[in-house]
Amino acid sequence: MKYLIDTGNLAEIKHCNEFYPLAGVTTNPTLVAKEKSDFWTLIKEIRNIIGPDKMLHVQTVQTTAEKMVEEAKLIKETVGGEFYVKIPIGEEGLKATMMLKELGIGVTMTAIFTPAQALIAAKAGASFVAPYVNRLDNIIGDGVRVVEDIVQEFELYGLDCQVLAASFKNCEQIHKCALAGCHTVTIASDLFKSVIAHPMTDAAVAGFEKDWKAMYGDKKILDF
Ligand code: G3P
Repeated sequence: MKYLIDTGNLAEIKHCNEFYPLAGVTTNPTLVAKEKSDFWTLIKEIRNIIGPDKMLHVQTVQTTAEKMVEEAKLIKETVGGEFYVKIPIGEEGLKATMMLKELGIGVTMTAIFTPAQALIAAKAGASFVAPYVNRLDNIIGDGVRVVEDIVQEFELYGLDCQVLAASFKNCEQIHKCALAGCHTVTIASDLFKSVIAHPMTDAAVAGFEKDWKAMYGDKKILDF
């Protein structure tokens, strides 16, 4: 399972790109607007930080298929590298996805809440579908179950589309998606920290440090 960071914040992207096995960045209009920056400066800077080989998913803000395609082409030309345009599921979005497939531009169909939406997005040629796990859980919709069902239906029909689960609020949701065979998750920077944190780990490390220091003081192995 690949990990992406879901943000437009440059400091968070820099940090997670340095310290975690990051496969790329996802943004959406809300996350971009939150940064209060010039759009192109922000997107280009994200690409500079992650380099050309990591995935960058940027959402179109257009509402017609033709304009979505035009916007996708412009973003791809401008940022280059491994790029996917995010398009919300809908009639215009599906039409745009089929047009973009012809042009060789990858689509992440977003705002997915049911396996039925995911299946039709995959049939239209989307490379990824993005179900919103926590937003489903918030309405007692069982986000993990939806991810599980999408993974199964893609396998059942041999579809060349991956599940990029989004909208997470805790480690349990991420772990259960991993067990369900989810291909990719996109999570906020604080969740990267939560994934690796455990009080027993802290206690173990403190014990190692105390015992070493009692015998060797401040010397490290490199000092011998
Ligand atoms: O791109 C979709 C994702 O960012 C939604 O997450 O936390 O707003 O539900 P959230």
